[in-house]
Amino acid sequence: MRFITVDSYEKLSTKAANIIAAQVISKPNSILGLATGSSPLGTYAKLVEYYKSGELDFSEATSVNLDEYVGLTGENDQSYRYFMNTNFFQHINIPIERTAVPNGCVADLKAEGERYDKHIQDLGGIDIQLLGIGFDGHIGFNEPDEVFIKETHEVDLDASTIEANARFFASEEEVPRKAITMGMGAIMNAKKVLLIANGKGKKDIIEKSFFGPITPKVPASILQLHPDLTVIYSEN
Ligand code: F6R
Repeated sequence: MRFITVDSYEKLSTKAANIIAAQVISKPNSILGLATGSSPLGTYAKLVEYYKSGELDFSEATSVNLDEYVGLTGENDQSYRYFMNTNFFQHINIPIERTAVPNGCVADLKAEGERYDKHIQDLGGIDIQLLGIGFDGHIGFNEPDEVFIKETHEVDLDASTIEANARFFASEEEVPRKAITMGMGAIMNAKKVLLIANGKGKKDIIEKSFFGPITPKVPASILQLHPDLTVIYSEN
């Protein structure tokens, strides 16, 4: 594990973007595993900047996102599909048909999970997976549990996750209670994993995840077993 500490969100975002840029430059047809939330916004902004200045080309890239709320269509401005389109995909030249986000609006979420895992497998797996981390240690929406779940699956969001994500909605009641998330299998199979976290509030869970015991009660702790993990943390 490479654990990198920086002193600003700006530096964190630049470093993360540079790692992703290096991946795309060295392998233009990379499979990029992407995340939503506040943490990667600066990284996406930097990558858009690199694209606009002609330094990066996403025309051969493919992406797979980690998760989606159950019940929100891609047109809903709180959905993760909408987030990705507006914060990243619309500003770069990745072909939109090669961007995938799990579909949280299907009746059979189990079948959707199987379809999503097969899609990732058919792509040959993920080259680099970008992750944020929840205050409870979740990655994707793999919440603390008795076991690590391998497949893409439906989850009940934890109260702390609902509370944390309420900032994006008009009220806490509007936050969906369920989501569909990539499981630990696809994440751990990614060739590289890049986890970013910022803020003093994440210090404790970063400590527990990367310097404590490996347990499904702290889902991100499984990443300690990944052969190519980079964590970038900024307290500010
Ligand atoms: C988002 C995701 C989540 C977030 C985590 C941190 O696709 O999978 O695990 O990365 O909730 O969210 P932020 O970055 O908003 O603190």
